[in-house]
Amino acid sequence: MSEIGGMNILTLAQTYGTPLAVYDEGALRDKLKSFTEHFRSDSFKTDVVYASKAFNCMAMIQLIEEYGCCLDVVSGGELYTAYKAGYDCSKIFFHGNNKTPAEIKMALDLGVGTIVLDNEMEAAELVRQISGTDKKINAYLRVNPGIEAHTHKYIVTAHVDSKFGISMLDEEDIVNVIRMVSSTDNITFEGIHAHIGSQIFDKKAYSELVKKMFAFASKLKNEYGFDVTGVNLGGGFAAYYTDEDHPIPVDEVCAEIIRTCEEENAKNGNQITRVLIEPGRSIVAEAGYNLYTIGYIKKTPNKLYAFVDGGMSDNIRPALYQAKYDAFIAGKENDEVSGTYTIAGKCCESGDILIQSIALPEVKTGDILVMKTTGAYGYSMASHYNKLPLPAVVFVKDGTAREVIERETYEHLISLEKQEVNP
Ligand SMILES: Cc1ncc(COP(=O)(O)O)c(C=O)c1O
Repeated sequence: MSEIGGMNILTLAQTYGTPLAVYDEGALRDKLKSFTEHFRSDSFKTDVVYASKAFNCMAMIQLIEEYGCCLDVVSGGELYTAYKAGYDCSKIFFHGNNKTPAEIKMALDLGVGTIVLDNEMEAAELVRQISGTDKKINAYLRVNPGIEAHTHKYIVTAHVDSKFGISMLDEEDIVNVIRMVSSTDNITFEGIHAHIGSQIFDKKAYSELVKKMFAFASKLKNEYGFDVTGVNLGGGFAAYYTDEDHPIPVDEVCAEIIRTCEEENAKNGNQITRVLIEPGRSIVAEAGYNLYTIGYIKKTPNKLYAFVDGGMSDNIRPALYQAKYDAFIAGKENDEVSGTYTIAGKCCESGDILIQSIALPEVKTGDILVMKTTGAYGYSMASHYNKLPLPAVVFVKDGTAREVIERETYEHLISLEKQEVNP
């Protein structure tokens, strides 16, 4: 692979410098098209809600709007970016376990369509702010269904201590929140939300979730009389990072979810009129590539290091949860493998290793290393550790690149600092 989005990788590195985050815009569009085409039913309204925490910037949000998707934001910052991108705020779902009063106010002022409530105190704050105004908002409540799904396994637990949502076992608390928000005409309680994990490879985890959510929605209606019409199933759709990963194709996982939802809905009297999913990673991960320039090469008794000009500051995932990645050297794709390298970043942390072990052709100073599948939770989790400026972000399509986020400069890094430190 010598090109991304029809543009030569070495040209991209030369033009924009490194480290550089590159997105294949065609691949982003293909994923959005696939989700919106396959997540459809004749029995209820469906919505794909992009979880923008995976990669939130104005250019990305504009693509989301183009494909008619809704948007999940979890902070005032993500919300502000969407607003500035010209995104229709009525299609926003505002998430988070600790939305501050100021963030709730901002959501109401900007006309956010839906708030996903996390807890009773938050619900009370929303009711306090909205009552007596002419503002309106829809509400979902995040529930914890006791299913945890990660990679190849999912487990059904009675885990009641998650920081997110309210456990289905704490039915009284759930009922209290719904009663509280239903007490004002300004809030329309629409339904329940759950998110059970990330990198889910097992379709059955979703079927299990659907069954629990539909049964619980039905219980809330039959036993308490609440008009629950929406079920939001969260994200967690897997991406391909290395050959250890076998993500379920989008059409298959969507078909499985839709089929189970239709079955469960029929069983429960077709009470649900809207079903939503919130993919983040699966939309952006595989479209993204991080380009680095190789610096020095170092041999230790047991390792052969190749150092790069970025690291945990632009991609924390390997250090944070031992995430694995594949990579190649641009222009040497067909060269014979010469050794096993450890790709290390330039940050002052022994844990700043991007790839523990990878077979590559001979790596030389000045080579461009291309890390694959870096589009999710890379740039969005980046930091200024060691005062490294954030990389530029470029979208490439049909051989043309456009810079969607500029590279930070040293000036940006100190722009908020007071010059007169010792007045
Ligand atoms: C509420 C919610 N929805 C959606 C997502 C997106 O998950 P993923 O990127 O794994 O699809 C997350 C991720 O943390 C989440 O917390």
